[in-house]
Amino acid sequence: MASRSKSAFKKASKNEILRPLLLSAIGLLSSVSVQSDGPAGDVSEDYMVVEARAQTRAFAQGLKETLMQGMKSEGPLAAIQFCNTEAPEIAAAHRKDGWEVGRTSEKLRNPNNAPDAWESAVLESFAQRAAAGEPLATMEASSREDGTFRYMKAIPVGGPCVVCHGEQLAEPVATRLSELYPEDNARGYQPGDLRGAFTLTYTFEKQ
Ligand code: HEC
Repeated sequence: MASRSKSAFKKASKNEILRPLLLSAIGLLSSVSVQSDGPAGDVSEDYMVVEARAQTRAFAQGLKETLMQGMKSEGPLAAIQFCNTEAPEIAAAHRKDGWEVGRTSEKLRNPNNAPDAWESAVLESFAQRAAAGEPLATMEASSREDGTFRYMKAIPVGGPCVVCHGEQLAEPVATRLSELYPEDNARGYQPGDLRGAFTLTYTFEKQ
């Protein structure tokens, strides 16, 4: 009799020890997910950079597919229309789970893409890093403050881009761009130039 109740007591006390351990393990796991309501301070900047890269890839892929589809099926004039209406929509579609995505540049086509102070500073540093010989393909920057995480990735000019961002634009392309963007400043680029950057912001859930 006495020994049975003793082992029951032993079991109970084991559970008392295990439960807090288990809870803290679950707590650790959920704080790793950026979508949890765990404390913002628990997620490392490195982890956020990995997340941001994945978000950027998905956004860039969406833009590229739309652009190439437009160029192939109907040529650059239709593709301009695509960029004009679809680029902001694609950005809006990727605005989810706490993330905001967009593109910015020092030489803008669409004034809505204007950089804020942090973005201006990063664009400036990207230009300097490129001048110092760093490849654009892997150039990125991040920062974390006041419940937000921010990330930027350089966008190089590729071959197809000069149809609409190059030095010599075909007449109908130049005319259409000027109609849509009277203050278009995003021309005169050559392949390999720094065109601008993807810019992402993640807002951590408030406690
Ligand atoms: C068919 C024409 C066309 C081609 C080709 C094109 N773009 Fe653009 N690009 C545009 C238009 C139109 C906008 C403005 C979109 C908007 O209103 O948000 C734009 C905007 C941008 C922006 C946003 C910053 C800004 O100036 O407003 C970046 C960055 C950019 N393009 C990069 C590229 C890159 C890199 C390529 C090649 C892979 C490329 N573009 C090819 C027409 C084009």
